Amino acid sequence: MTAASQAARPSALDVDALRSRFPSLDPAGPGAGWALFDAPGGTQTPREVGEAVAAALTGPLSNRGATSPSQRLAERCVADFRAAAADLLDADPRGVVHGRSATAITYDLSRALARTWRPGDEVVLSRLDHDANVRPWVQAAERAGAVVRWLDLDAETSELVLDDDGEAPGLRGVLSERTRLVAVTGASNLLGTRPPLRRIADAAHAVGALLWVDGVHATAHELPSLRRSGADLWVCSPYKFLGPHCGVLAADPALLETLHPDKLVPSTDAVPERFELGTLPYEQLAGVTAAVDALAGLVAAPGTRRERLAASSAAAEAHEDRLRGRIEAGLAELADRGAVVVHSRAADRTPTLYFSTPGRDAAAVSAALAEQRVLAPAGWFYAEEPYRALQRAGALDGPGIRVGTAPYTSDEDVTRLLDALRAAL
Ligand SMILES: Cc1ncc(COP(=O)(O)O)c(C=O)c1O
Repeated sequence: MTAASQAARPSALDVDALRSRFPSLDPAGPGAGWALFDAPGGTQTPREVGEAVAAALTGPLSNRGATSPSQRLAERCVADFRAAAADLLDADPRGVVHGRSATAITYDLSRALARTWRPGDEVVLSRLDHDANVRPWVQAAERAGAVVRWLDLDAETSELVLDDDGEAPGLRGVLSERTRLVAVTGASNLLGTRPPLRRIADAAHAVGALLWVDGVHATAHELPSLRRSGADLWVCSPYKFLGPHCGVLAADPALLETLHPDKLVPSTDAVPERFELGTLPYEQLAGVTAAVDALAGLVAAPGTRRERLAASSAAAEAHEDRLRGRIEAGLAELADRGAVVVHSRAADRTPTLYFSTPGRDAAAVSAALAEQRVLAPAGWFYAEEPYRALQRAGALDGPGIRVGTAPYTSDEDVTRLLDALRAAL
């Protein structure tokens, strides 16, 4: 190996060292002995994130201001949060908005955006998306008299249909000069599919539409870039990547300036505060900053926080892709004897796998796994449209099981998952 290729090689993740930073993964703690595959529903939280929340909350902490140390701490929590989220999402800190959840942010922004729509305008949604990136737009479109058009899901490939295939219209068929917004996921929380965002962004922008990306699942499995993805607005949820339970939106501040949500008379009209109703939860903001720092420190690397995030993200992806390969190999053996059908088949996908268990109730299989202290929930996880699309295609007749990894998932966890699945099936 040459010195250059050695230098280019990403450092490997030290999973044991990482796990030791999570109180919930402590082998002597109350969560001991569980192999957790529910990361797509929410990750565990490292000690430093909990400590950052506690430190901010126990202050001294007042409302924002410059007079006392307590006011200055609130100011710092807000500024640090916007800087951290901007580094994570490759965005402008002045366009970073805090919200209670990705769902709440999407509802709020759908109302603000829909005020600019006219009857007959069009909104493009996808059958791959979590309902949080579907229903707010459907309801906003209804109120505005706008028409909803759909990008379909191909159940065979688990990809969105972007080229007209004779049955489904594809991008060219759904977009028109009346399209105001395209809302699509960065990655499916059910199937793991990552649609080609740049292609969708270019097509949306060519007709003058905005691209809204639900980055909740994607942000947990890649280092996003608002600038490079082509998304105009990107929403994510820190509790999916080691942080507290809230939502974050990133957008160009100039775009946010054009939107006018309902707000109180005395509250500031400045962007991004205009979109953040009431007093900000400073302690939660401190937790998000600590989570971004934790993500940037998964491996030791030099450089800016964004550069360290890139090195850590590369290491986490390499680790989780390898685990995904092991899980897929185990599932393939079970599929060969008809015990499972794996529905996650996209060429570009996260380590989130959805499979059904023909002839066996998935909830009962999930319960059998739980008896072995393996957590792999059954259901369809609010992914209403993709689940119904799979059903319509005859790919499944009831809920399946979802398994997903996080950076702290170990090889031993995977061995236990596969052993428990073989025993249950
Ligand atoms: C892809 C995706 N989008 C949106 C959401 C909703 O996020 P929140 O709980 O922050 O509203 C989830 C939650 O699981 C999700 O996985």
